[in-house]
Amino acid sequence: MRTTAAPLVLVPEVLPPDWLASVHAAADVGAFELRDDLDAVLGLELETRRRVVGLLTLLTRPVDAALLDAFPELRVVSNMAVGFDNVDVPACTARSIRVGNTPGVLTDATADLAMALLLSAARNLPAASLDAREGRWQTWSPTGWLGLELRGATLGVVGLGKIGLAVAQRARAFGMDILYTRRSDAPAPPELGATRVELDALLARADVVSLHVPLRPDTRHLIDAAALGRMKPSALLVNTARGDVVDQVALQAALEAGQIAGAALDVTSPEPLPPEHPLYQTPGCFIVPHIGSATRATRRRMAELACANLLAGVRGEALPHAVNG
Ligand code: DGY
Repeated sequence: MRTTAAPLVLVPEVLPPDWLASVHAAADVGAFELRDDLDAVLGLELETRRRVVGLLTLLTRPVDAALLDAFPELRVVSNMAVGFDNVDVPACTARSIRVGNTPGVLTDATADLAMALLLSAARNLPAASLDAREGRWQTWSPTGWLGLELRGATLGVVGLGKIGLAVAQRARAFGMDILYTRRSDAPAPPELGATRVELDALLARADVVSLHVPLRPDTRHLIDAAALGRMKPSALLVNTARGDVVDQVALQAALEAGQIAGAALDVTSPEPLPPEHPLYQTPGCFIVPHIGSATRATRRRMAELACANLLAGVRGEALPHAVNG
């Protein structure tokens, strides 16, 4: 008689086991077999691939139709990120596969990083630090390393969702005036004292433009040459959203031409951005390696929420945070 093999659940190898405690506990009582080698499983025969019912994915894993077709019994893709542009959601929906993401738990960490980038760009920290280290700090200079004073300056938040709002609240505490765009009709909380404007007006008026839209077909290269051309020559661009929201070729040209004063990027296209990429050498530009949510507490919470989505999907229950209903 042919015995039915246990269902299989795949998680990324790089996640610490204690962040995945609930999934390990379910595997320990025999709910499924747990593996952390998706690429190896992809190379196995259909009989094994049919056993795969759940995937926990990182934003670095494209989840496309080809991957889904390799796992014909897949029930859930749990993406450990709030963004899910790496997942072909319509392809999942067409196959009745649920998709989960991890909103909320990374709002503060990402807003903190956006604020750190904003402050670093406003006060020239990367260049000033390099100058000090390389011997160009020769005196206290009244006109040296002058930056933007935040009190009274205007922040333009492109996409006032959870993270955009958290950035706006922080910037407000620094005395900045807030302009914003948002997709939903709901107004910003009144205590923010923020003004809703069209994107063109925001770009023309903001001293700092901070991007918080998800990557969708309509936001790809939202900040293109024309958008950059609307910004003030003194303006700074902060991107903690997705690299492809900005046309990087246009950004490089705008920085080189002095059309805008600086850019602080947590996200790029591609990721990682290769060390020889010209943006690293472009004046006024500095780049950090997609660390918006990189605090110990937040990454653990993201993993735990991703586990909750994964387990719910494997059990056929509603996901705590579903992207496709
Ligand atoms: C997300 O969750 O989408 C973030 O980019 C990860 O930091």
